[in-house]
Amino acid sequence: MDPTHNTPQKAAGRLASVMQEDRVFPPPLEFSKQAKIGSLEDYQRIYDEAARDPDGFWHARAQSLPWMTPYTKVLDWNPPDAKWFVGGRTNASAACLDQHIAAGRGDKIAIVWVGEPVGERREISYRQLHAEVCQFAAGLSQLGVKAGEVVSIYMPMTPELVIAMLACARIGAVHSVIFGGFSSEAIADRNHDAKAVAVITADGGWRRGAALPLKKNVDEALNKPAIDGPQTVKHVVVLKRTGQPVEMVPGRDVWWHDLVAGMPTDTPPVAMDSEAPLFILYTSGSTGKPKGIKHTTAGYLVWAKTTAEWVFDLREDDLFWCTADCGWITGHTYVTYGPLAAGASILIYEGAPNAPNEGRFWEIIEQEKPTIFYTAPTAIRSFMKWGMQHIQGRDLSSLRLLGTVGEGINPEAWIWYHEVIGGKRCPIVDTWWQTETGGIMMSPLPGCTPTKPGSCTLPLPGVCPEVVDAAGNPVDQGEGGWLVLTQPWPGMLRGIWGDDERFRETYWSRVPGKYLAGDNARQDADGYYWIMGRIDDVLNVAGHRLSTIEIESALVSHPAVAEAAAVGRPHDVKGEAVAVFVTLSSGEPGDALKDALRKHVRQQIGALAVPDDIHFAAVLPKTRSGKIMRRLLRDVAAGRETVGDTTTLEDYTVLAKLRDDD
Ligand code: PRX
Repeated sequence: MDPTHNTPQKAAGRLASVMQEDRVFPPPLEFSKQAKIGSLEDYQRIYDEAARDPDGFWHARAQSLPWMTPYTKVLDWNPPDAKWFVGGRTNASAACLDQHIAAGRGDKIAIVWVGEPVGERREISYRQLHAEVCQFAAGLSQLGVKAGEVVSIYMPMTPELVIAMLACARIGAVHSVIFGGFSSEAIADRNHDAKAVAVITADGGWRRGAALPLKKNVDEALNKPAIDGPQTVKHVVVLKRTGQPVEMVPGRDVWWHDLVAGMPTDTPPVAMDSEAPLFILYTSGSTGKPKGIKHTTAGYLVWAKTTAEWVFDLREDDLFWCTADCGWITGHTYVTYGPLAAGASILIYEGAPNAPNEGRFWEIIEQEKPTIFYTAPTAIRSFMKWGMQHIQGRDLSSLRLLGTVGEGINPEAWIWYHEVIGGKRCPIVDTWWQTETGGIMMSPLPGCTPTKPGSCTLPLPGVCPEVVDAAGNPVDQGEGGWLVLTQPWPGMLRGIWGDDERFRETYWSRVPGKYLAGDNARQDADGYYWIMGRIDDVLNVAGHRLSTIEIESALVSHPAVAEAAAVGRPHDVKGEAVAVFVTLSSGEPGDALKDALRKHVRQQIGALAVPDDIHFAAVLPKTRSGKIMRRLLRDVAAGRETVGDTTTLEDYTVLAKLRDDD
């Protein structure tokens, strides 16, 4: 086999012929003319430069960080442990704020914020953002929060969420943002695992006109009996957002506005080691509880900033709207750290895309005029379903670039996005990456890469993907296999919080020395990558990562359930929906129990994990060795096999026998 068959070099060489194909969209000429990377030759040159001399390449890019102590070495790579910019000291909030102000850009708008209640809007300049971050950082310090300690953040999408993240970074505290849709159980688990010393929350947040009970959820989490050892959380800071009544626990709880009152607006940033943790973010794996993915300071920032600039071709007058919540990695890297380190203006919207009606996003675009719009395929499929009447007549002409993330996009949705939202003039960047990778790994560069709907196209410079078989050998072109990354990159995860063994086992053991992404992929004849879904029991529901095991554990913790199996089934909007099969130890199968189980999963994990389908079964189909036959259940869940009435007990014994060798 040709050893260079899967390098981007080959791909770039072939693209002249690719452009002739039907389903290939060359970058719009007007866009290319103005883009920083405007030709495939440029991409090729940068890619080669990064491959030839990674240290020199990343050294050059790291110069844009404000170094308080220079590093002595670019990379110390002792697989799977990487140290980037060894011995250096910097600060993430200084990179996102102080250096822009020092460069005379303090009056530039950092954040345009739109609340869910119509008419609520704020504009915050870099100078104002800096002042608010400094005050809140001083407040946290006054509470006794120290560098290296973990602070949980459970907030609505308000500017204060970004301020809280940057304030933690300013004093060297490690933030752990918990998505506002998670339950009190999930908060308690994450606080406990991370040994969080404080929680920053709000009385509530607006979601489809209703006030979410955020503070109440935090109270419930903190009132649970300690899992082992004493409660680590000493302080709760509460932002007044909705004005709903909340209980404040004396000595523990403090209002945000009281904490910052009179605080200095020039709190100096703490010089943090390049490898000091910047944040942890919990994500679902194929086994056990969610894992705290650890990202560190300098490498992550270099990756966030560089990829934001490359993929979104950021320009001085851009207004960048990434619709992700900061509870997910996309919100960390492309709401907060990437664009702010790059000195861009970001747009944040607090609420749901269908509040007060399905036209809200397009109204916001018409009013605020963002130039870049980055969202998830599941949202695009919802927009398609909601219909043209919400879009027609809206002026979307400010948009010049569109992006997608979180799951594969089906070509139909891609074409709709291109034509209806992008007016056929905006390139689309389909960006493949993960919580673990810190930032985008594969994506078209909008000024130069011809796109094919459904493919994330080519790796970014510094990214070395390979598609391998179970023995770790590269597969032939066109064949599917496991996606691995063969070289370290600055934004890579540095571990799982408190579980080094799991880190090694999950990502580095099956294909020794290479990072196992957990996705299946294939490369086409042009070297383009196509992601083909997970290799493990991780589901991707509406772009959110969920573990089947977590859902199963939640179900079996209900007194009526003996055994449970969760699988994904195709869903035309969410991509995948959750289908569960349960056997009962007590109780009657029927709608009342289904409701109770849904409520229970909501309490245990959160609304996003609530099963769409619940099948009651007499037994679960298992192999002779006792493993649940998920492949069979996936077929049943998808309607590929119809087995009786799903509201009563189902007996899969016969099928199980038939398929015993699966
Ligand atoms: O399976 C891939 C899918 O989402 C997973 C990562 O999920 P998470 O860590 O939650 O991060 C999502 C946001 C970066 C991947 O392993 N995925 C992500 N982007 C794409 C994708 N699948 C196909 N195409 C993509 N562009």
